[in-house]
Amino acid sequence: MTGGAGYVGSHCAKALRRAAHGVVILDNLSAGHREAALGAPLIEGDVRDVDTVRRALRDSGATAVMHFAAFLDVAGSARDPAGYYRNNVVGALNAPTTLFR
Ligand SMILES: NC(=O)c1ccc[n+]([C@@H]2O[C@H](COP(=O)([O-])OP(=O)(O)OC[C@H]3O[C@@H](n4cnc5c(N)ncnc54)[C@H](O)[C@@H]3O)[C@@H](O)[C@H]2O)c1
Repeated sequence: MTGGAGYVGSHCAKALRRAAHGVVILDNLSAGHREAALGAPLIEGDVRDVDTVRRALRDSGATAVMHFAAFLDVAGSARDPAGYYRNNVVGALNAPTTLFR
């Protein structure tokens, strides 16, 4: 799961683990908190980095990806649209496309 140390992702990870699913979190902690992972394995890394995503998928043995890593500050997106595009669009494409390389 990406962004699992953030608000939505951490609650989703908690619910999945309660339902006995294994969860591995990939989060760069730019806005999230290590404690929010509640003890789930946390890979500190960035979804914009294809090698990191590929390694995380391989090492975790993930069979599914839930993607919650994103910037969400509206004013920030107006100040830095290219940065938000790279994080939220390119970053979102990295996980699924990496699966097929
Ligand atoms: N919070 C809401 O009410 C809400 C409602 C609807 C949709 N969403 C969407 O859900 C997603 C998550 O929102 P949230 O409120 O949990 O935000 P959040 O900031 O609490 O969590 C996002 C997490 O992603 C991580 N992250 C950001 N960029 C990253 C990167 N490049 N690589 C790795 N990790 C990265 C941050 O460190 C953080 O832990 C966003 O796409 C948001 O738009 C949120």
